[in-house]
Formats: sequence, structure tokens, C-alpha cells
Amino acid sequence: MALRFGKYTIEKKLAVGGMAEIYLAYAANGEPIALKRIHPNFASKKKFIQMFLDEARAVISLRHPNIVQMLDFGKIQDSYFFTMEWINGKALSDVIRQQMEMNVPFPVDVALWLMMDVCEGLAYAHVKRDHYDQPLGIVHRDISPPNILVTRNCQAKVADFGIAEIRNKGVQTQPGVIRGKFSYMSPEQSFGEVLDHRSDLFSVGVMLHEILLSKRLFLRENEQATLDAVRACKVPPLHKKRKDVPSMLNDVVMRALAHDPDDRYRDGPSMADDLARVLRIHYPNSRRTEVEAFLQSLFPVVGFSINAALPDISKKRMKSVVVKKATASSKGLQSFLQWSGYVFFVIVLVILLDFLYKAFV
Ligand SMILES: Nc1ncnc2c1ncn2[C@@H]1O[C@H](COP(=O)(O)OP(=O)(O)OP(=O)(O)O)[C@@H](O)[C@H]1O
Ligand SMILES: [Mg+2]
Repeated sequence: MALRFGKYTIEKKLAVGGMAEIYLAYAANGEPIALKRIHPNFASKKKFIQMFLDEARAVISLRHPNIVQMLDFGKIQDSYFFTMEWINGKALSDVIRQQMEMNVPFPVDVALWLMMDVCEGLAYAHVKRDHYDQPLGIVHRDISPPNILVTRNCQAKVADFGIAEIRNKGVQTQPGVIRGKFSYMSPEQSFGEVLDHRSDLFSVGVMLHEILLSKRLFLRENEQATLDAVRACKVPPLHKKRKDVPSMLNDVVMRALAHDPDDRYRDGPSMADDLARVLRIHYPNSRRTEVEAFLQSLFPVVGFSINAALPDISKKRMKSVVVKKATASSKGLQSFLQWSGYVFFVIVLVILLDFLYKAFV
């Protein structure tokens, strides 16, 4: 049943999230949009409202093919709300659920394409500046499969920028309580420390690890055990459990999941570059069509189909990333050094044996 909400027409409720109810609605021009109506218990707090408006002002300026565009925000009939572009696809959490239900492995190259998209969206937001050229310092803080939406165009977009911070602060009743999706948090986030964009890249590492092994990384039987696992940050190597994961990709995931932020990727583009290198070296024939084929196999009726007219940032990165190939001369040098190493070892062994022979015989 359609319901009027200011200039919007609400069509149906889709979900109830941690901070808001989410609806499919229509704008005055008939365009479908996603509308999030903030729970009244949040909206009654002055501090929350101020934060919400500040965050929304920053987030509405983000425009990138791998970010779900915020369109509008404000207050209608005593309810704070914001609207977003409507993504006619599936949340990554749904994709993973379906893949697990169908008991098929998540193709490595498809995981790489989608996580590259996420890194692209993050890379853009992390360095976004305001009208006075001051860094906005945007950190997502809740990078997790329900907040990654996969479009019908077979690309991933990051949703809900800025929401986690507001949600956590808005309802915090006791000091030290950390809310949110613990199992995707970085160790520093789990301690409630000040964090920067490298925390988001850690969360991308968690998603990639989980997708590749079809197994939750830090989720445990309760919140405390999950927090303990995040803080301990013990990460099983991928290529030992799944043979088709190249060790080069294992290195990328391990770096993203380093306990110390200084040991991780310094920014989104460097992580995206390394993911692109793995694709170029180990899956040279992989194209976005692999993502399309996989999504179609999971959801035959949704109609995933690539629209070549839409920009594909990851594809551009794939083409432009520098891949150091071993040249003929460097290969020659490598084998020369290897052989001279063997010869040296044999000479030392002969001298040693000769010495021992002379000494004891
Ligand atoms: N812009 C959108 N277009 C289409 N569907 C969306 C959009 N945003 C969210 N959804 C759908 O609604 C679901 C719930 O989203 P929502 O963000 O409310 O919940 P959540 O991410 O689980 O919780 P949180 O409030 O913590 O972000 C998503 O998993 C997705 O399926
Ligand atoms: Mg969300």
C-alpha cells in the first residue's frame, strides 16, 4: 500500500536496520529511491541530530560509480530521513548466502573484481575534500557484506557512508560500549581507538578472506568471543585451505589484515592495484563478464547484465596497472645467480670434505 511521506511515496518496507527502517519509495518524478527513516529513539537526541546532519552534508557530496549515492536528507513529519539511489540488484550478503546455499565455490576472479570495486569507492571517499579544500576525513566504519550492494550492472557499490559513527554514538548508553558489526571491525576499532581509513581496508580484507574460504573469519558464538578474535587477529592462510588461491593473493589479504595499521595498505588505490595485479597475472582472461555469469547462475531471474555505457573504474585500473614481468635478461640473470649459487655450494662442500679427509685419514 503506497504511503505519502513528504514529496515521496513509500511503496514497501524492505528491512529494519540498526538505526533506521529502509523502504522502497518513489520520488516526485517517479524514480525509485531507497528511503531510510531513522528510528524515533535516535531522533530524540540533539547530539545525534547534529551529527546526522553534519555527516549527511559530507556524504551527499560523494559521487562515484562505486558508492551508493545519497540523494536527499532532512526531516519530514517529525522523522529524520535520507534517501539513496535505488540499487536494483542484491546486497553482497545475499550473494554470499545464495552461493553457500547452492554449495558452489565463490570464483576467485569474481571476488577480486568485486573487492576492487569496493577499494575504488573507498579510495575516492577517503581522500574527499570539502569546498574549502579541507579533507573530510571520511571513514566508513561499517564495511560489511550487507553494506555492499551489487548492481544489475555487476559492479559493487558501497552503501551507508558515515552511518556507523552516528549509529554508535547516537545510542551509546554506557561509556565503552562498542556497537556495530564486530566481526568486520579492525582491532583498533574493536578497542574503540581513534581510527583512520586503513580500518576500512582491514574490513575489505575480512570480506575477501571470508568470500574465498566460504567461512566466517572472526565471528564466534557471542559478541565478547568475536571481539576477542578480532583483537587477537589470527588469520589462517588462504592458499593452504583453498588450492586455487594464488599465494600472491594470500599475501594481499594478509597485508590487508595486518594487526598494526602501519603494516597494512596505506590507501585504497594501492590495495586495488595489488588486486588488479593478481587478476592480470593469474586470471589474464577474466573480464567483468565472469561476474555477470556467476551472478546469473546464482540469481537467474534478477537479470544481471552488463551495461557497457556505464563506467567501470576497476576495468580501467586493470588495464593501467603496472605488472612487472620477468624480462628475458632478468630471467637470465636469475638463473645465472641460481646456478652460480649451486656451483659455489659444491666447491665449499668439496673443500670441506677434502679438509676432513686430510685431518682424519
Ligand atoms: N540503496 C539501496 N537500494 C536497494 N536496496 C537497498 C539499498 N540500501 C539498502 N538496501 C537493502 O536493504 C537491506 C538493509 O539495509 P540497511 O542498511 O538498512 O541494513 P543493514 O546494512 O543491515 O543495517 P545498518 O543499519 O547497520 O546499515 C540491504 O542489505 C539491502 O538489501
Ligand atoms: Mg546498511
